[in-house]
Amino acid sequence: MATRAPYLKSRYSGYHHRQVPQEDAELTHVGPDTPAGEYFRRFWQPVCYSDDLKDLPLRLRILGEDLVAFRDGTGEVGVLELHCPHRGTSLEFGLVGDKGIRCCYHGWLFGCDGTILETPGEPAESTLKERLFHGAYPVKEAFGLVFAYMGPPEEMPAFPVYDSFVRPGYRVVPGQKYIYPCNYLQILENTMDAIHTSFLHTIVSGAVFTDEFGVLPELEFMETPVGIIYIATRRVGDNIWSRSVENVLPNLQQVAPVWETGQKEIGFSGPMMSRWVVPLDDTSSMYIELRHVSETAGIETPGWWVDRSKMLAGQMPPDTYEEAQRRPQDFEAQVSQRPIAVHGMEHLGTTDRGITMLRGQIRKGIRDVKAGQDPVGLMRDDVGPIPTYCNNTVVRIPPAATEEADKKLMRETGRRLARGYIEAPPLLAAAE
Ligand code: FES
Ligand SMILES: [Fe+2]
Repeated sequence: MATRAPYLKSRYSGYHHRQVPQEDAELTHVGPDTPAGEYFRRFWQPVCYSDDLKDLPLRLRILGEDLVAFRDGTGEVGVLELHCPHRGTSLEFGLVGDKGIRCCYHGWLFGCDGTILETPGEPAESTLKERLFHGAYPVKEAFGLVFAYMGPPEEMPAFPVYDSFVRPGYRVVPGQKYIYPCNYLQILENTMDAIHTSFLHTIVSGAVFTDEFGVLPELEFMETPVGIIYIATRRVGDNIWSRSVENVLPNLQQVAPVWETGQKEIGFSGPMMSRWVVPLDDTSSMYIELRHVSETAGIETPGWWVDRSKMLAGQMPPDTYEEAQRRPQDFEAQVSQRPIAVHGMEHLGTTDRGITMLRGQIRKGIRDVKAGQDPVGLMRDDVGPIPTYCNNTVVRIPPAATEEADKKLMRETGRRLARGYIEAPPLLAAAE
């Protein structure tokens, strides 16, 4: 099958588009032994919140694998293969005990590391449990999240802590997790899609964020040491508002506060949210959020954001299909790109440069792993807080003489600010 659909150059030429090319498998397939699957398996991935693990086991699907998570009586968390190694019963029906989880069928007991602690039906002299292990993945709990490392044991990297997570004057709190029935990549690409905030979120669905988002920004994109940012600059009176949203490789988005108006000068704001897009399989993905809440006098985090039960607008579908058609938002826009977006049918424009750059970064990471090298973003050593770059910054710079000159001034200002904070990361300086 062709990888690109023909470029239609005449009217009524739908017939030439009757075939839909295949998706880009290298970038989008995440199951075991796929190139992107191996790439993602090199990084610690959040799989659930710590407080999801109560008395019952939690069934998970991550990177095309069926798993079970639980917290036993000692407080330890296990992430194990879902199916019992005896005869395959799902451990989601298991009994979480003082130590480990016990299969409901014949009572085999498994420790968090996959050790088989008991095989009750077997004769006392059986050595089966000394020889066999159940599949288990290393787990790390941090910031109210449970992370698992699903890669080759000998390749386990350090656990990365980003500077925004340990920022003085702020705390990070768990937010919401929600599932989109589509491939991870098109969701991640939305991070580099600065234009949609002024169309989808403003013109189509009314001002979801502040009115100032309705102005089409001047756009730049810049690679950072750990990923990519967009730099969207807007003119607000005598101010230039520069907004950067970030993707930290491979799949952590950081979003700058959406309540910004650009009316008042502010320094580097940092993110309102850090959110992973975890591939569950090729056609479903989980958002899992950490929210940043200010504890600094004079810097208010809006109440709706502190309230964990409230969601960022537009992230999930409305109650009815008609409502979705009348006020489509992020969910409709991204999920309807097909279960796996087909790049061979796209026609990318100038504002999509960030999308191309992000795909390039991920493809490079995938190929680096394939070649036996560490991909960008993977930390071998415990290096302390890792700098990140998401922010709103508002500076007073009155407009240039003409509209064209002003646009240039905005772009230059955005780039200058970004170069400055990439060189001297403000949150890192604050954390040290
Ligand atoms: S199937 Fe799990 S103990 Fe038999
Ligand atoms: Fe959006």
